[in-house]
Amino acid sequence: MANDDSDFLRLLRAQVGNEFDAHQQYIAIAVWFDSQDLPQLARYYYRQALEERNHAMMLVQYMLDRDLAIEIPAGSPVRSGFDHVVEPIALALAQEQRVTEQIEAIFRAARREDDALGEQFMLWFIKEQVEEVSSATTLLTVAQRAASNLFDLENFVAREAIGDGGASTDAPPAAGGAL
Ligand SMILES: [Fe+2]
Ligand SMILES: [Fe+2]
Repeated sequence: MANDDSDFLRLLRAQVGNEFDAHQQYIAIAVWFDSQDLPQLARYYYRQALEERNHAMMLVQYMLDRDLAIEIPAGSPVRSGFDHVVEPIALALAQEQRVTEQIEAIFRAARREDDALGEQFMLWFIKEQVEEVSSATTLLTVAQRAASNLFDLENFVAREAIGDGGASTDAPPAAGGAL
């Protein structure tokens, strides 16, 4: 069971901040692409940002449901300036890899602490991270291949709808509703 000093709860609370940080970082990346007149990449990352915001609110809803104390954290600094289109795309992949490690750690804590409800809750996030890392990897590969052919890269993003499955029907509910 999740008691107030469990590792599971401590990590889950921290993850609310991690997901909001991911949201802010994706906003910064989207705005940078917008400023570079690359609207398809901007659109892609604005949508990614919303997904992260929804992840944070799913964690909040879970804590509401289990009657756990919730604090909404202030964010960490994010990077807003880049020299080349590949940089923010590589940063996005590194961020998704880091979040995957965080999600795995929360899952492991639930298992270690014999918290079946917590363990089950984390399963959707694990599946989601497989998708997120896969999309981010694809985008980085294509961006590297396109090199300075930014119209090709924009066309690819517009055409392929990477990670565009929308919210899966088994997604946990988000506090206030998913956006
Ligand atoms: Fe996320
Ligand atoms: Fe993500």
